[in-house]
Amino acid sequence: MDKIRINLDELLLCLSNAVDLISPILSNHHQQVAYLTFFLAEQLKLPVEEQKDVFLAALVHDIGALSKKERLELIESEPPTVNNHGFRGAKLLERFRPLQNAAQIIKFHHQPWDNGSGRVYMGENVPFASHIVHLADRTCAMLRPGRNVLTQLPEILAAIREKSNSVFEPGLVNALFKLRKKDYIWLDLITSRSPIKMIAENGLLDILVLEIDDIVDLAFIFSQIIDFRSRFTACHSAGVAKTAEQLAQLVGFSPVECKVMLIAGYLHDLGKVAVDNRILEKPGKLDEDEFNEIRAHTYYTYHLLDAIPQFDTIKTWASYHHEKLNGTGYPFHIKGDSLPLGSRVMAVADVFTAITEDRPYRRGMDDEQAIKVLNKMVAEGALDRMVVEVLLDHFQEINTLRQQAQQEAAERYDRFLQTGGLLATV
Ligand SMILES: [Fe+2]
Ligand SMILES: [Fe+2]
Ligand SMILES: [Fe+2]
Repeated sequence: MDKIRINLDELLLCLSNAVDLISPILSNHHQQVAYLTFFLAEQLKLPVEEQKDVFLAALVHDIGALSKKERLELIESEPPTVNNHGFRGAKLLERFRPLQNAAQIIKFHHQPWDNGSGRVYMGENVPFASHIVHLADRTCAMLRPGRNVLTQLPEILAAIREKSNSVFEPGLVNALFKLRKKDYIWLDLITSRSPIKMIAENGLLDILVLEIDDIVDLAFIFSQIIDFRSRFTACHSAGVAKTAEQLAQLVGFSPVECKVMLIAGYLHDLGKVAVDNRILEKPGKLDEDEFNEIRAHTYYTYHLLDAIPQFDTIKTWASYHHEKLNGTGYPFHIKGDSLPLGSRVMAVADVFTAITEDRPYRRGMDDEQAIKVLNKMVAEGALDRMVVEVLLDHFQEINTLRQQAQQEAAERYDRFLQTGGLLATV
C-alpha cells in the first residue's frame, strides 16, 4: 500500500462525518455545505482547480471548532469570536500541501462581504472562495429538518437577499437565486443521507493519488483534531502512534506496515470526535450513560474508517484497540486468534501510553508501576504476552520516544490554543 489510489475528498469526508456525529442537529452539515458550494462554484464557472479547492474547503470548513457547544453556536448564529475556528482550522490544515489553498479559504469563511471591504482582512487578501463557503454555510444553517425544504426556501432566500452586499457578495447571491429553481438540489440537501454522493461524476472530483507519506501527514492532522478537543487528551494519539509504530518494527513488521501502524495509531480514537467534550473532561465519575457514550468511540472509529475500502487494515488495527484476547473487550468481543497481531500491538500501545502519560489531573505511572500493570493484564488474558515482552525488553527506548512525541504534541497544542486566543482579542 505504499502507493494507493485514494480520493482526498473521501478521506476528508470521513473526518467531517466524524465531527458532525457529535449532534443530530449537525448531521451532514459539512456535506450539505460542500454540496451547495459545489453547485455555486459550478454556476459561477470557476476554473476547475478553484472548484476543487473550494469544495474541499467546504467539506471540512468547521474542523477548527472543537467543542459541541461551539459547533451548535455556529449553526445558530455568527458569534463575535466566529473567526477563531476558521483560523484554527487553517492552522491545522495549512501544512498539508494538497490542502494549502483550502486552508486559506477556511481561514476566512465567516468574513462578511461588507460592501467589498471583505476582500481583505487585516491586510491579508481574503480568497473569493471564502465568500462562497460563507454563503453556502449560512444558507445550510437556516435549513430546518422536518419541514419541507421547498416550503422553506423562499424565506431563506429572502433572508439572504436582505444581506446581499452587507454580508454576502451580490454576485454570489445571484448565483444562489439561479439555483432556486433546481428543486433536486434542495431535495438532495435535506433528504439524502450523503448529499455529496448525489453529485453526478463530472471529473471534478478526480482521484488524487496519495502516497503513503501523504496519508501519514493527513492522519497526523486528524490526530490533532481528535486530541485537541480536550486538554485531557491533547497528546494521547501522538504517543500511541509512535509507540505502536516502534512496537510494530520490533515485532517484525515491514517498513510499509510500520507506516500503516503509525496511521492507524493516529486514527485509533477517531470516534472520540463524536463524543461530547463535556464527557471527555468530566472531573468526577462518569454515570452509566456517559460511560457508554465513551465506550462507543471504537465503534464509531470502525464505521467511519469502514467507508474507505483501502483502509481495511488501518480500520482493523485502529478500531480493535479495546478488544481483549479473552473476549471481554469491546465493542466486538473479538477473541484469541481472531484478534490480528496489528490490533494487539495497538492495544498494548494504547494501554502503555494511557498509564504512563501525564494528564492535567494526574502524573503518569512510574516505570515499576507501569510494568506491573502490563504484566497483570497479560496474566488476565487482556493483552498479548509476546507484544508486552517486546515492549518490556525495550522499555526505556520506547518510553523515551513516547515522551518526545507527546512533548512535541503538547507544544503544538499550546500554539494551537494561542491561534484562537489571540484572535479572540483582535
Ligand atoms: Fe464556520
Ligand atoms: Fe459551518
Ligand atoms: Fe480508545
